[in-house]
Amino acid sequence: MYEKEFGMERTPFVRNIPPEQLYESPAMREALSRLQFAASRQLFAVVTADAGCGKSTLLRRFNESLPKDKYLVMYVSDSKLTPKWLYKGLLDQLGLEAGFYRGDAKKLLQKQIEIIREKEHRKVVCILDEAHLIEKETLEEFRFLLNSNYDSESQLALILAGQTELWDSKLRFRKYAAIRQRIDINCVLPHLDRAETERYIDSHLHYAGCDQALFTEKALDEIHRSSTGIPRVINRICDKCLTYAGQQKQKLVDDHTVRYVIEHEMLGGTE
Ligand SMILES: Nc1ncnc2c1ncn2[C@@H]1O[C@H](COP(=O)(O)OP(=O)(O)OP(=O)(O)O)[C@@H](O)[C@H]1O
Ligand SMILES: [Mg+2]
Repeated sequence: MYEKEFGMERTPFVRNIPPEQLYESPAMREALSRLQFAASRQLFAVVTADAGCGKSTLLRRFNESLPKDKYLVMYVSDSKLTPKWLYKGLLDQLGLEAGFYRGDAKKLLQKQIEIIREKEHRKVVCILDEAHLIEKETLEEFRFLLNSNYDSESQLALILAGQTELWDSKLRFRKYAAIRQRIDINCVLPHLDRAETERYIDSHLHYAGCDQALFTEKALDEIHRSSTGIPRVINRICDKCLTYAGQQKQKLVDDHTVRYVIEHEMLGGTE
């Protein structure tokens, strides 16, 4: 819509930016290396962050970073996942059909993981996203995958990712102790600070093929303040600001435009 106005080759604030062009904040870089460590040592890791702070993006980047001849990554994300559907979801990704019984599906999955480890010499990484929405029984089943070998040697790496409430309303409570005690690595993605917000916006503009500063310093202050540094919200505000500035034939987005757009064009608010 506004790409031509600003001499862009692509739309900057989109969701499907190629993994190598994502903005890597220091926290994201740290989390990525922790997840890679968890994958190589076959550990249990948990990633938490507020909504829109980049968990799924981190997981996409992580998945992409693992060499396919050395790792097999399975990814499930479904809030209504029951233990049976968890196995079905995982087996589906291995091209296998889950039988009717949960126990059979579990055995089949464990057998297959063993084959991948022993015959293909690949390490298995199993990711469960949106874990804050998942019932305790399914989370327990997920962590059972770890101790198929009488808790002695881990057969795979497990990554649980979810919104901050995964800790606040689940894992920190006693009834989740069996899961919590097995967590080896904990990663948190905080909101971006002011400087990171600016670099984040620059990286999106760079991706779009635009290397000039389109947002004034005060506009960036305002975007950071109103988004509280949440990437998804920054994307929405910037996209609306560029649309508005393009329509108004403005060459720059200033703080007045940011405030105007938030007040008039974002009726759903900045949440
Ligand atoms: N490091 C990043 N570089 C580029 N874009 C990012 C980055 N982190 C997040 N985003 C963008 O912000 C948006 C939200 O990110 P994402 O979906 O990963 O958040 P989330 O933490 O998984 O949110 P939810 O809890 O709602 O699932 C996406 O559109 C994504 O493209
Ligand atoms: Mg997500």
